[in-house]
Amino acid sequence: MHILITGNMGYVGPVLVQQIRHHLPNTKITGFDNGYFAPCLTNQPAVMPETQLDHQIFGDVRQFESEHLKDVDAVIYLAAISNDPMGNLYEKATDEINHLCTLEIARQAKQAGVKNFVFASSCSVYGLAEDSSRTENSKVNPLTPYARSKVQSERELAALADSDFRITCLRFATACGPSPRLRLDLVLNDFVTDALVNGTISILSDGSPWRPLIDVRDMGTALVWASAFRNEGPNFDIFNAGSNEWNFQVKDLAHTVGSVLGNTTVSINQDAAPDKRSYQVDFSKFAAAAGSFAPQRSLEDTISAVRDLLLHCHFQESDFRESDWIRLCYLRQLVQTKHLDSELKWI
Ligand SMILES: NC(=O)c1ccc[n+]([C@@H]2O[C@H](COP(=O)([O-])OP(=O)(O)OC[C@H]3O[C@@H](n4cnc5c(N)ncnc54)[C@H](O)[C@@H]3O)[C@@H](O)[C@H]2O)c1
Repeated sequence: MHILITGNMGYVGPVLVQQIRHHLPNTKITGFDNGYFAPCLTNQPAVMPETQLDHQIFGDVRQFESEHLKDVDAVIYLAAISNDPMGNLYEKATDEINHLCTLEIARQAKQAGVKNFVFASSCSVYGLAEDSSRTENSKVNPLTPYARSKVQSERELAALADSDFRITCLRFATACGPSPRLRLDLVLNDFVTDALVNGTISILSDGSPWRPLIDVRDMGTALVWASAFRNEGPNFDIFNAGSNEWNFQVKDLAHTVGSVLGNTTVSINQDAAPDKRSYQVDFSKFAAAAGSFAPQRSLEDTISAVRDLLLHCHFQESDFRESDWIRLCYLRQLVQTKHLDSELKWI
C-alpha cells in the first residue's frame, strides 16, 4: 500500500504518520508539503518527524504535478490554511488551498487510478448549532471563509466518487493533544499551556460555547480507517469524526484542566461578546462504522500528555498566545519578513 499525504508537516501530519506505521507497518508513505511550519518543532534535540516517511516532496498544492500520484493507493488531503483567523486574513489562499486544490488533486488522483481519497473536513461547517446535536444530515451553516472552503470541497468532491474511487470526508472536532508540531491555538492545548505557565486559565469567551474535541492521535487513527479500512457504505460518505462524550462547554473544559493540573485559577470574561462558534455534534455514525478505530481516550490522558510535552521541552512563554506555536502568528511573521508573499507563496 502507498499513501500520499498533503499537508503532512503540520500538527496532525506527523501523528498520522505514527498511526499509519502502527496500523499498517508495511505502507509506503509520501508527504507533500510546502513547509510553512517546518521549524515549529517541540522535540529537543529536534528530529524532523519526516524521517519517518519514505519520501518527502516540498511543494505547493497550487503547483501539484500528477506524476506524484504514480502507484499511489490512497490520498489523505490535510493541506490547508487551517483555522478561522488565518482564513479571514488570507481568504484567497484559503479558497485556493483548502477548496480548489482539493478538487484538482482529487481529479488527478482519480485519473491516476488512486482508490481512496480522504478529506480532512471540520465540524465548523455547522457554525452556530446550540439547540441540538448536529448529524451528517443536518443543514450546514458555514460562517467563515475557512468553514466555507470545507463545505464547498465536500459538495464538489461528491460528484467525483465512484466504485473505483471512494471518497471519505471526515468532519473533525477541534483537535487537541501532543504532536511533534504542537499548536497552541486550539482550545484545550491553550488551557493546558495557560495553566502550566501562568497558573491560570483565562477564557476569552463567557465560557458558555459548546465545542466537540478529538485527540490528535485519535484523528490519526480515524484517517487510517478512512484510507484503508472503510470497505462498506457509499462511494462518497461524510462522517462527523469525534465522540459523543467529548462535546464540552468551554467553562467545563477549563475546570477539568484545572483539576487535572492543580494550582490553577479559572477566569471567565463576563463581558465577552457571544461566541458564534458554538456547536454540539452527534458522532454516532462514526462510532458505528469505525468500531475500534473510533476515539477511545480519556480527556485526562490528553491533558496529561500535553502537560508532559510542554514540560519536556521546557516551554515557559507566558505570552504564548503570541508565540511561534500559534499558526496565525507564525504565518504573519513569514509574510512580514518577506519570506511569503500576500498569497502565501514562498518568495
Ligand atoms: N487541528 C484541528 O483542530 C482541525 C480540526 C478539524 C479539521 N482540521 C483539518 O485537518 C488538517 C490538518 O490540520 P493541522 O492542525 O495539521 O493544520 P496545520 O496548519 O498544522 O498544518 C497544515 C499543513 O498544510 C501545509 N500547507 C498549507 N498550505 C499548503 C500549500 N499551499 N501547499 C502545500 N502544503 C500546504 C502546511 O505547511 C502545514 O504543514 C487541515 O485540513 C485542517 O483544516 C484540523
